[in-house]
Amino acid sequence: MCNVEDGAMSEFFFDEQGDRRMEQQNREHWKALAELIAQAIRQDRLPHTLDVLDIGCHAGGLLLQLFERLRANNKHEIARVAGVEPIADVRRRAAECFGEAQFFPTLQDVPDQYAHLVVSHESLYLVPDLAEWVRQLKRVLRPKGRAFIALGCHGENTAWLRWRVPLVKLYGHHSYVHHPMEILQAGADAGFAMELHRLYPQPKQSMRYSPPEDGWGEFISAQEMLEHARQKYVFVFSLRE
Ligand SMILES: C[S@@+](CC[C@H](N)C(=O)[O-])C[C@H]1O[C@@H](n2cnc3c(N)ncnc32)[C@H](O)[C@@H]1O
Repeated sequence: MCNVEDGAMSEFFFDEQGDRRMEQQNREHWKALAELIAQAIRQDRLPHTLDVLDIGCHAGGLLLQLFERLRANNKHEIARVAGVEPIADVRRRAAECFGEAQFFPTLQDVPDQYAHLVVSHESLYLVPDLAEWVRQLKRVLRPKGRAFIALGCHGENTAWLRWRVPLVKLYGHHSYVHHPMEILQAGADAGFAMELHRLYPQPKQSMRYSPPEDGWGEFISAQEMLEHARQKYVFVFSLRE
């Protein structure tokens, strides 16, 4: 692994085109996550004005969606937007998008009690030490803060467990297998109240068939393809005090 401070695009992604493709594909997931968060915090005792941190924020797409969604909600506003992103070029793109925002290379760089609300979409599988990551999450959250961590690349997703092998061979992309029950247990051990949601509670009726050009992301059955979106879980970490 290269130094995260100087993290290069090729460590996590394919090329700039692959990067843009990911943003296109993830837009739907960001929207679903922003909706789930908006609904989940509607009744919360979180302050009206929130400081929000996205871990693995890439160029800031989820933060933008959340900003719009919470403003439309008309109850919570985002006061401060921040992100963690190891790839320096992408971090700069995110910074250009948000005038006042701060973007940090690692979670360890984020100051203590920095955010009321932490979000993340598909970055936990790139973290080697789950227990340390949970400790850091607790450190950066304000008292009574909440984190919504979305993850489809986990130890119960058989398609991803297959795909991660060629991804190393083809592109040198390293990932780590965290099982959903381990994530829940790690959160509980650190003193969080834990909840588990599906990002898509309703089964998807259809999916576009688009076979991967380089063969790493194939589905082996129609059932696996249709169930894929259902494997996306949202782990909610809540601090009681
Ligand atoms: C699969 S991408 C998802 C990006 C974005 N959240 C989205 O939904 O499009 C994973 C992101 O996490 C970043 N990343 C890699 N290792 C990380 C780590 N240890 N902590 C936080 N982010 C990390 C990558 O650079 C990349 O931007």
